[in-house]
Amino acid sequence: MEYQFILVENNYRKHIALVQLNRPKELNALNLQLMLELKDALEKLDKNEEVRCIVITGNEQAFAAGADIKQMESRTAIDLLKIDQFETWDQIRKTKKPVIAAVSGFALGGGCELAMTCDMIVASESAKFGQPEIKIGIMPGAGGTQRLTRAVGKALAMEMVLTGKFISAEEAKNAGLINRVVPEELYLEEAMKLAAEVCQMSPISIRLAKESVLKAFDAGLQEGLYFERKNFYMCFTSEDQKEGMKAFVEKRKPDFKGN
Ligand code: CAA
Repeated sequence: MEYQFILVENNYRKHIALVQLNRPKELNALNLQLMLELKDALEKLDKNEEVRCIVITGNEQAFAAGADIKQMESRTAIDLLKIDQFETWDQIRKTKKPVIAAVSGFALGGGCELAMTCDMIVASESAKFGQPEIKIGIMPGAGGTQRLTRAVGKALAMEMVLTGKFISAEEAKNAGLINRVVPEELYLEEAMKLAAEVCQMSPISIRLAKESVLKAFDAGLQEGLYFERKNFYMCFTSEDQKEGMKAFVEKRKPDFKGN
């Protein structure tokens, strides 16, 4: 698949893949083609053994200003049902490798939802998060009412969803929506640093650990604990577990191979 609206840079040496949303004139509004490209790229990177972590970014001005309103304007409910507009967001959620959003500028509507679908968010001081769909006569449709509420709690989520107000990166950090806030010139570098830290761990335990944390959103406590325990035991089938523990005993850095 040729990509028109995203750029993919694969740094094999560091095991990090960088995906950049690239519709700058439209503030990276997420049209169907862009989302299909993103889905395709993530599926390929997820299968690529050289890649251990994926970073998704936009540009300084916008991570993404939401789903493409011009493309949606004349759609009917049945059109959306047939196109399955938000199916691509589900696919992103299914990515097994860790995905980090590096956000600067606007992360609105579907853009905020895309960032929240990622596993961690690093933001620049200029980042603005919001679910402004209410202002155009709709409501969030790609996880905004669910993921935002789980992340920041009912009070703030309700206010953001019902008034469309934006919050700053600092507010988002204080509310527990994002991991880090850094000056604008550093947000991508900081996200890459975080990715590099993750890449040093065993890809197998990273995968099982990510799966287990996400399970906390879908399961009750007992089911989640049971799932976690199974994944914990599963780590002991890997060579990386032997290497990790041996390296600790020998007081050296582990060399994880992903086996
Ligand atoms: N869809 C389509 N085009 C968009 C867009 C979007 N979501 N957001 C911005 N653009 C386009 C603008 O139309 C404009 O294009 P033209 O120059 O051709 O007119 C260009 O990007 C620049 O935007 P502005 O001139 O509006 O820039 P600004 O700095 O004055 O304002 C903004 C920036 C506050 C982000 C404003 O563009 C805005 O409010 N955008 C829409 C945000 C929004 O409502 N997002 C939710 C979309 S619905 C959704 O996402 C549903 C869901 O749950 C998935």
